This record gives sequence, structure tokens and C-alpha cells, in this order.
Amino acid sequence: QHELIIFNISNRIKKLEKDAQVFQEILDSIQSSDGILWASPVYYMLVPANYKRFIELISEKDVEHLFKNKHTAFLTTSIHSFDHTAHNYIHGICDDWDMRFAGSFSADMYDLLKAEERKRLCCFAANFFEEIKKNTLYSKNYMPVIWRDFKYVSGESGSGAETEKKKILIVTDANDRQTNLGRMIERFKSSFSFEIEVVNLWDIDIKGGCLGCIQCGYDNQCVYKDKDYYIEFYNTKVKAADILVWAGTITDRYLSSRWKLFFDRSFYNGHQPSLKGKQIGFIISGPLSQIPNLRQIMEAYVEGQQANLCGFATDEYGDSQGIDNLLQNLAERLVQFADSSYIKPPTFLGVGGLKIFRDDIWGRLRFPFRSDYVAYKKYGVFDFPQKEHTTRMQNAIMLLLSKAPIFRREVNKRMKDEMIKPLQKVLDD
Ligand SMILES: Cc1cc2nc3c(=O)[nH]c(=O)nc-3n(C[C@H](O)[C@H](O)[C@H](O)COP(=O)(O)O)c2cc1C
Repeated sequence: QHELIIFNISNRIKKLEKDAQVFQEILDSIQSSDGILWASPVYYMLVPANYKRFIELISEKDVEHLFKNKHTAFLTTSIHSFDHTAHNYIHGICDDWDMRFAGSFSADMYDLLKAEERKRLCCFAANFFEEIKKNTLYSKNYMPVIWRDFKYVSGESGSGAETEKKKILIVTDANDRQTNLGRMIERFKSSFSFEIEVVNLWDIDIKGGCLGCIQCGYDNQCVYKDKDYYIEFYNTKVKAADILVWAGTITDRYLSSRWKLFFDRSFYNGHQPSLKGKQIGFIISGPLSQIPNLRQIMEAYVEGQQANLCGFATDEYGDSQGIDNLLQNLAERLVQFADSSYIKPPTFLGVGGLKIFRDDIWGRLRFPFRSDYVAYKKYGVFDFPQKEHTTRMQNAIMLLLSKAPIFRREVNKRMKDEMIKPLQKVLDD
């Protein structure tokens, strides 16, 4: 009834970058299609780096117009950890390209095994086909991202962010020092009286994206091993720093796919926080405040690492002097928080994310991710409430007693006082 043509864009990305004819085949197919289904695993709260690279290629080749008015939907598999940010991202891209975004479907990685979930997927597909036929229109979710034409020129060099003990590393994908990002990095560096190391992701030999082979699950050994420089870089430079500054330019609705490659390849650390206790700051060129989804990804990433997000310095609304101040303050904050070893408490992003990992690593993913299991056990991550025996006992007693109306009346009267009683005791002591 319908013809489905599948293009695997991720594992052929190098060919697609080089071979215009192969790329054209995809474009021709897009042009003649009635609907486009994006399909991808969720990798680090987004799509994999190579998948993102394909989206960049569409923009670089200026062929977004081929997607205009096409009905589209997005299908992912994941363990539901920040699948919504991946969905927001693709939805945003589709809105940017004036596509007709019918909806997204976030399947758990093993949903296909369940008859109920297969039925749900078929229903989603049937609705998608029906809406293509009816030419349904949808309101957009995302406003276009508007860049300001602004050249940042730093004023006086900074000073005053002093630390003798802390190791600071800036990682960037800035290719050119004569860009806002390049100049922001230079200004940031000048806040310190000593030389700060800057590593450019383009100078690091990275042979390819994460293969998703999970061979690292056993003992954190990546299949790439010493075939490229990534693992050594991450182990000896990134993990060794106390203060990390990620510097990048917004590319579509994220950073560049090179940055995404950096995050994806760190998966050999499994679901363990490889940057625990570090101070992290972002220097971003581009309209970050217009992309709250990206900000949420960055916040969730840092919380997931059990690190401390010191802040963002962007070039989006300041005048040059304002940006100088932002960079100076970021430098000082990074040092100040590092000196006091401050890690702010996690929000829902970190707490909720860890509960998903905790359950899956204890349960269905324990076997391939043996190393995570061992680490989680060692660091007390398996804090299931079933283990809280006192609480369980209290609950049982109180629930039994509360069957009596007279007891419930007394509880209702004293509820607030009793709730704050243990906290009051701490304050009184
Ligand atoms: C590098 C990498 C990053 C991942 N990041 C996430 C993530 O952020 N959220 C999530 O729910 N699952 C994540 N996963 C799990 C995959 O999304 C999930 O296993 C998916 O079903 C894999 O699909 P595939 O078998 O088609 O590759 C990640 C897996 C890998 C290998």
C-alpha cells in the first residue's frame, strides 16, 4: 500500500560528505516522498553525532527547501533518559525547515517485544499516513533562531582569577581565532596569570562515532582503544582537570557535530559520572537563550556528571564590554567554586536521570554494563526505598492506624507541625 525507502545516514556519513552523487540520491528521494520519518537511537540526549552531521550537511548544501511542507515524524528508541530533548531538537529542525511535524514516538529499546507497544506503533504509523493523505496542518512549536550580527572585540585583558592548585582545561571546536568564539576564549584565558591549556577538538584524531557496540560495558574499554587519540585525550586531559570549560558555536539547535562526537565517544565510561566533582563552564557563541532545549541538555549533562555548572558566557546580547565582564566573572566563579569544592544540589534533571540509570543498571542492563553495576554498588547508588526498613515499618503502622477516623482527625490537626518537627530540631541544636 505504501512504499518505504530507508536510508542509513549515520554509518555512511563519510561517504555522504564526500560523494555528491550518493547524497543526491537521498535528496531526490526526499523530493519525491510524501512523508519523511526520522528514525534514530537517542545518544546523549540528542541524535548521534553522524546523524546530526547529516542535518548540518543539508544546511551547508543549502537544500533545506526540499523538506518544505513535507509531512514528517520522529521515531526513537532509548531508555527514556532525556529522549524528550532529542525529540525537541528534531522537532525544532523540522520547524526551521517548514516541515509538517505530525508527532514523535519514543519507544523504549525493548518495546518491540511487547504486543501492546507494537500495536501502539502501528497506530502511530496509521495516523501518520492518514494525516499525509488529509494534508493536515500543525502549529509550529519553535520560533526560528535569530542570530545577531555582532562582532565581539575584547577590551582590556582580564586579571585576578588566581589559583595555583587547580588544573584548568578549555576544550573547543573553534577553528579560527578571529571569530567571536576565538576572541572570547582569548579574553577568558587572559583572566588568569598563567597559561591555560586549550585543546581543539579538530586537532584530536577521532576515527569515528560511537558504534553503540557496548563492548565497553564490561570494563570501560572502548573498541577504538588506541586506534585514535580520543580515549587518551579523555583519560589524561579531561579527567585530570579540576576546571573544564567547553567552548563552542551554536550550529542549528545544538553545538557542532564535532562536539557531539566528543560527547558520544565518552560513552566508554558507561553510565558512571566520569567528571564527578569538577567545575564546568560554557563559553558559547550564538543565541543560546533562544534554545532552552540546548541549555537543558547542558544542565542535565553537568548534573548527570555530578559536576558543578558554574555558568555560561555567551556573545548573544552583551556589548563587548558586557561580554568581557561575563568572561571575567565566569573565570573567577570557576576558581572560587573549585577552591570551595562546591557542587550545587541536583535538580530533577540529575535526580530523575540517575533513578533511570539506577533501575536499569541494577536490572535489565546489568549484564552488558557490568562495570557500571560494580561502580554503582561500590558508591551506594542502589538506594532503593525498599531498603529503608524503618520507613517501611512506620508506613505500615501509620497506614493501619489511619483506618480509624479518630486517628486521621488527630493526624490532620498535627500534620504541618509534625512535618517540620525533625527539621526544627536540627535548627534548634
Ligand atoms: C553513545 C550512547 C549514548 C546513549 N545515550 C542515551 C541517552 O541519552 N538516553 C537514553 O535514553 N538512551 C541512550 N542510549 C541508549 C540507546 O538510545 C538505546 O540503547 C537505543 O535503543 C539504541 O538503539 P540502536 O540499537 O538502534 O543503536 C545511548 C546509547 C549509546 C551507545
